[in-house]
This record gives sequence, structure tokens and C-alpha cells, in this order.
Amino acid sequence: MDARSSRDKWAEWVLARSHANDAEQKRRSLEFLGPIRDGVLEKARINPGDVVLDVGAGDGLIAFGALPLVGESGRVIFCEVSEDLLEHCRVAAEELGVADRAEFVRAAAEDLSPIPAASVNAVTTRSVLIYVQRKGEAFREFHRVLRPGGRVSIFEPINRYFPNDVDDFWGFDAHSVRDLVEKIWIAEGCHGANDPNDPMMNFDERDLLRCAQSAGFADVHVDLVIDVEPGTWVEDWERLLGTAPNPNARTTGEAISAALTPGEAERFEAALRPLVDRGQGMKRSAFAYLRAVKSSENLN
Ligand SMILES: C[S@@+](CC[C@H](N)C(=O)[O-])C[C@H]1O[C@@H](n2cnc3c(N)ncnc32)[C@H](O)[C@@H]1O
Repeated sequence: MDARSSRDKWAEWVLARSHANDAEQKRRSLEFLGPIRDGVLEKARINPGDVVLDVGAGDGLIAFGALPLVGESGRVIFCEVSEDLLEHCRVAAEELGVADRAEFVRAAAEDLSPIPAASVNAVTTRSVLIYVQRKGEAFREFHRVLRPGGRVSIFEPINRYFPNDVDDFWGFDAHSVRDLVEKIWIAEGCHGANDPNDPMMNFDERDLLRCAQSAGFADVHVDLVIDVEPGTWVEDWERLLGTAPNPNARTTGEAISAALTPGEAERFEAALRPLVDRGQGMKRSAFAYLRAVKSSENLN
């Protein structure tokens, strides 16, 4: 539970700390996420009347996008570990007048036991497996709950392509304050690319492919998308300070205060603020889309 909020850490991050609790920063994130949502839904090949299970639904980016595709005769199951996010989606579904076609289930990707076997036409998930240690279990569960011929469509960032680098801070050139970046990374417990215990860093697209095949999926396709281009996802310095990179991390402002002396924090800000406020950064991303089909001969 977050000290400043009664919401659990997942809800607090999805609904506030991922975007500095700021409408402009949220709008910028949605601009980036819209095409990803469309890609996940397209690869799930959803038909009218389908039952779609969105695992780790968050605030409903994918699940609300699936509702128009399943139509009046279909259903979308919002599945989450966070009761607060399920409640958030429940309220939003009521407001949108779609609650009769939505279900809300509390379960983890690696244990979908509330969902019966062979009961859904499509499983979608975006940026959820990155938080799951037992990814193989999650794929076995996706396979179990799908009907024969059902599809899974997954999107995950592959963070190990761009491990922490002391010359870079959120995509901004930080070589002049690399000693301070290093102090921040150490205080944040960042261990680099290959920590086998960090589910955010210890896998790539080949592991996802292996998990899908081991789970029994017959027809598996992976697209790896890597982009390096000038620009930034950050609105400005103030919003960067209010943003946390993931639900387990402090906001940048909290991390700076925890790791640096006031004098060091001043030197850090003097070096980086102008670049951040002018948007002079580099965007580096590596993503995998995986889609797979459960064989129609497979009755389990
Ligand atoms: C980055 S958010 C993505 C939310 C949503 N899928 C989207 O596309 O916006 C990750 C979500 O995964 C959920 N989550 C974390 N661990 C999970 C697990 N083991 N099983 C299912 N969901 C989980 C979190 O509560 C959070 O809502």
C-alpha cells in the first residue's frame, strides 16, 4: 500500500504515478499507447460474439478497446490482481453503459483458476508479463482458458535491449553527471541487464516464444520492434520528477532526494533540466508482439 494513498501500488501507479498524475503527461502516454492497443487487438482477431479475456487490464486500455469488437453479443472479462483497478474499470464500464457486457475477475496471469478451461475466444495482455516471475505458468494458463482455435495476443517491452547506462537518464545525455546517475541507480537497486531475479529484465522475445511453444501453442508469431529516434515521452522536468518508471520504483523526484545531497541534486538539475524542458532526448524502445493460436484439435 502506498503511504500517500489508500490505493494499492498497482492502482496508484497506473492511475497517477505513471504520468505524474498530470493530464498532459497522460495524454502524451495515450498518444504513444493508442497504436499499441490497436496492434494487440488486431492480432487477437476478435469477432462479434467473442468472449475476450484481458489479463492485467489496468485501467482498461485494451479491454475497453475490445468491447466494440465483440459487439452486443460478446463479452469482455477484465482480469486484474488489483482490486482497486477492477473497481475503477467497473465504475467506468457503468458510466459508459457497457457493464452488462463486462465481467471483472480478480486473478493473476500465472493462476487464472477463476476462469474455466476452454471458455474464451481470445486472451489479450499488454505490459503485464514483465511483472510476472513465472511467465511459463502464465502461458500455460492462457492456453488452458482458450477454446480450441482461440487466439492469444501479447505485447511486452523487452527492457534488456537498453539496460541502465550512467551516461543516459530517461533518454537524456547525462555524461556530465554520470557519477550522480550512478548514485541514483545504486540507490534504486538497479542491477543491469541480466539479473535472473528481476522479471522486468530477465527475458527477451526468444523466451516468450519458448514459453508459448512449451505451453502447447501450435501457431506462434513474434514481431520484434526496435526504435531509436530523437525525442522524448516526458512533458517537462516537473512532470519527470513526478513520474515513476514502474509500480515498484520511486518517482524520479523521490529517487533524486533519496540518493543525492541537496548540492548534488542542484548540479543534477542544472545539467538535465534544460535538455528535458527542451525535449532534447533520445527515445529507445524494444517491444515484442506475440500472437499464437490454440490448435483446434486440442481439447484442453
Ligand atoms: C503496465 S500495467 C498495464 C495495464 C494494461 N494492460 C494496459 O495495457 O494499460 C500492468 C498491469 O498488470 C497488473 N499486474 C501485475 N501483476 C500481475 C499479475 N501477476 N497478473 C495479472 N496482472 C498483473 C497490474 O495491476 C497493472 O494493472
